[in-house]
Amino acid sequence: MKENGLILGIETSCDETAAAVVERGAHTLSSVVASQIATHARYGGVVPELASREHLRAIVPVVRAALEQAGIALADLNGVAVTSGPGLAGALLVGITYAKALAFANDLPLIAVNHLEGHIHAVLLQERENTSAAKAPKHRDSVESEEPALALVVSGGHTHLYLARPVDDVWHYSLMGRTVDDAAGEAYDKVAKLLGLGYPGGPWIDALARFGDPLAVPFAFAQMKTKAHLAGKAPRTKSAKTAPIAELDRRFMFSFSGIKTAVLRYVELNQMRPEAEARAARLFAQNDGGEPAVKPPQTKDEALALCPQLTLDLIASFQHAVVGDLMKKTFAAAETLGATRILVTGGVAANRELRARFTAESERRGLQIAFPALALSTDNAAMIAAAAWPRLRAGEFAPDDLSADPALALK
Ligand code: KG4
Ligand code: ZN
Repeated sequence: MKENGLILGIETSCDETAAAVVERGAHTLSSVVASQIATHARYGGVVPELASREHLRAIVPVVRAALEQAGIALADLNGVAVTSGPGLAGALLVGITYAKALAFANDLPLIAVNHLEGHIHAVLLQERENTSAAKAPKHRDSVESEEPALALVVSGGHTHLYLARPVDDVWHYSLMGRTVDDAAGEAYDKVAKLLGLGYPGGPWIDALARFGDPLAVPFAFAQMKTKAHLAGKAPRTKSAKTAPIAELDRRFMFSFSGIKTAVLRYVELNQMRPEAEARAARLFAQNDGGEPAVKPPQTKDEALALCPQLTLDLIASFQHAVVGDLMKKTFAAAETLGATRILVTGGVAANRELRARFTAESERRGLQIAFPALALSTDNAAMIAAAAWPRLRAGEFAPDDLSADPALALK
């Protein structure tokens, strides 16, 4: 087998068709992401059938572009990595089928990667990129600390806390906490839709929250109780359905459906609906109901042209409460588990307030904290290729009958 460490990663678990070439899990040669935002925006969420169709359209040109931008041919690769779950079954299958065919036709090993492990490796890839400039390639594999890290994966489909530790280069994960209902990104998207903002909602709320009063609406997260009817059952999330809730420490459990309802109640109480509907009509009319032509506001004047102050205050308060809850549980878990290093990743990790407050709190507590670059926070294939590198070296190849596992657990 070639030992150049060049892995082609393919990711199609949700609404981005992505391919990337990464060398030894440490150096990104190319990373191509074809977003389906325009397709799903008019529905305010991902439509699974449309996602599969768009992946089918995009997969060949996206993989070709990744190879071209990396300046390599298929024959130069050391392996092909693909996301096998969790995610949308039909969407996952497009990537898996194509990756299998590429691997088979070119006699390359195929490595199956868990999407959540990919998100965690987005941070590790970033750290390696940062250090590799100063080190020779052969030393890159040994720069990592053996210390366990607490990883918060916070995206549109997931809000999971893992204790992650490398054993002989291969990372192992223990689930410590997760959401019992909506993921944090899902709450962002639903609240944004309710307020007539663009899709996905995260970047809109992130941009607008800066111009509102974060303490105007006192949203509260109650301490999670393990409800009797939930004990032992899988949660209602579309993400990994793993250990029964009863086995997890309830201090590290999340719930975001309550705040979504609280925002809805506030909107109704303050008769903000007509204003939100008018805003949605304004934003989406410009592009036949697809992706809004307008970008999220950058200045207070732009923000006020889009939303009255009452709405800006509501947005700021929502975000302040969500970030506060993510922090409270993550730092409690770090303290309880003795983790000195925190990794925050996934689409919501792109959020400015989240980055600033997590960083400040980590400094205050003397903990290390790391985030991926913004482009690596949301779904991409570089993170999949990076996660596959230790598995390729360990000879952990996918079985011939690899299939999509929409509820794949991370271990
Ligand atoms: O990781 P990702 O691309 O896909 C999933 O695996 O779900 O995450 C997408 C999610 C969406 O819910 C989106 O609203 C959210 O990440 N997001 C953000 C920001 N950018 C994306 N949430 C808050 N602030 C942001 N800046
Ligand atoms: Zn993701």
